Amino acid sequence: MTEKLWGGRFSTSVDDELEKLNSSINIDKELYAEDIAGSIAYAKSLVSVNLLTEEECAQICNGLNRIKTEWDEGRFEIKKNDEDIHTANERRLKELIGEPATKLHVGRSRNDQVATDMKLWLRSHLIDLELLMLELIKVTLERSTKDIDVLMPGYTHLQQAQPVRWSHWLLSHAWSLKSDVDRLEDMKKRVNIMPLGSGALAGNPFDIDRKQLARALDFADVTQNSMQAVSDRDFIVEFLFMCSLTGVHMSRWAEDLIIFCSKEFGYVTIDEAYSTGSSLMPQKRNPDSLELIRGTAGGLFGNCCSLMMTMKGLPSTYNKDMQGDKEVMFDSYHKLQSILKVAIGVIRTLKVSI
Ligand code: ARG
Repeated sequence: MTEKLWGGRFSTSVDDELEKLNSSINIDKELYAEDIAGSIAYAKSLVSVNLLTEEECAQICNGLNRIKTEWDEGRFEIKKNDEDIHTANERRLKELIGEPATKLHVGRSRNDQVATDMKLWLRSHLIDLELLMLELIKVTLERSTKDIDVLMPGYTHLQQAQPVRWSHWLLSHAWSLKSDVDRLEDMKKRVNIMPLGSGALAGNPFDIDRKQLARALDFADVTQNSMQAVSDRDFIVEFLFMCSLTGVHMSRWAEDLIIFCSKEFGYVTIDEAYSTGSSLMPQKRNPDSLELIRGTAGGLFGNCCSLMMTMKGLPSTYNKDMQGDKEVMFDSYHKLQSILKVAIGVIRTLKVSI
């Protein structure tokens, strides 16, 4: 007999090594707030179809809010059988309120739940990235206004071609970033469609009001085909692609500056806060910040490639291979956030000496 959420008809427990491979809680715990928000909204929709009483719903919502506080305060205790964030929250809910907790999962599957959690997470985190991209554009614009009289050689084939303004170079990169912001904006439309109510694959048999559920979770609409809804990871692939293309833009920007700050060019000096030195060669000031930005672009592309490879051979609807989607989504978010912040600092502080 096993204590898993799905363990009803199982008599022996899972192999230890498989247990480790299967466990995603240490990664998907980052979705705890979204998982709880989705569960609270779902509990309320179960009341509308008389599958929960008001009283049970109140108990569930109070319990879930307590669990959220435990996570917020770093007090949530992960147990051995907590396979992922969904099972962990439900296990804890049952400990806190007993039997009514088991009714929360009626008609819902982790398949529609996880897709919903990820869309909720991505929706809010896209805004953080967008603000940083806009900040980088703004700092670049300020610099190009301030430095408007600075002239430099423009290059093709890395050979001096025609004279241009330094601001022209600066803004060429800002325009690439602007197209990244446009792509991000466009993506939001597809992220903001709710999969909840698709069940495991064949929909929700209890006639819950999905439009109402979507309004409660602030989604613009609901997905139309339940099989597609639990299969779909396009929104993550798009996100990973957007991150990797922005990474490519940042990398080319960094490469230009790496060249410009070399002794041979001497056009710019990177601030000490964004460089490192050498103990053996005191004359050196290495542009590590820029090299790390250039290097990180590789990892961002790797994440996009990794998820597309995972998806390409999967049969219809949910397959466990897809569990790896969160690791790459979180990683690309953190990587892009970090290189944007560093880039903002670099451009704000560098000195021009052309
Ligand atoms: N932890 C799983 C994931 O992120 C949740 C979905 C599990 N679904 C299932 N049918 N086993 O992919």
